[in-house]
Amino acid sequence: MSNDGVNNGRRRFLVAATGVVGAAGAVGVAVPFVGSWFPSARAKAAGAPVRVNVSKLEPGQQIVAEWRGQPVFISRRTPEALAILEQNVDILADPESESSTQPDYVDLHTRAIKPDVLVVMGICTHLGCSPLFRPEVASAEMGNEWKGGYFCPCHSSRYDMAGRVHRGQPAPLNLPVPPHSYESDEIIIVGLDQESA
Ligand code: FES
Repeated sequence: MSNDGVNNGRRRFLVAATGVVGAAGAVGVAVPFVGSWFPSARAKAAGAPVRVNVSKLEPGQQIVAEWRGQPVFISRRTPEALAILEQNVDILADPESESSTQPDYVDLHTRAIKPDVLVVMGICTHLGCSPLFRPEVASAEMGNEWKGGYFCPCHSSRYDMAGRVHRGQPAPLNLPVPPHSYESDEIIIVGLDQESA
């Protein structure tokens, strides 16, 4: 699995340091997430929820947490990116996320509890590569038609800024939204449902 592109190359990127619930969560800068957090084997085996501090996550940025041994992308969307979600539905395979996995407490359009903060699994629904975060509209890399989102480097599947897959891609489904909740404005708990928080 590749994690080398989770940052936006033109922006300072943040990598989440996560902790099992009960431990302090923090955000570090420019530290590969695989080396920033070593949960106990017992906690890993149990798939324990992890706390992620999003206080330093700025609009247009993403951090990567780890839950159950898999990457979780947490991004803060700009007002412009949120507006594009509403305008961009024609190119999407499942704009209402009817076939995709998300908890019933997230809004189906933003796929989030709080509109600006997206939490999705960083695993392509085709064959499991880790998509790249490409939030810039019409970037030189992605082309004039690009509205921001995720690009899978393995077989070129494209997703929007809500993790919704474009039509005609190898990937069949939107990126799953994992169970998550807010302990406070700054702390997200991945793996713990909103109702249980
Ligand atoms: S694994 Fe992502 S497009 Fe194939």
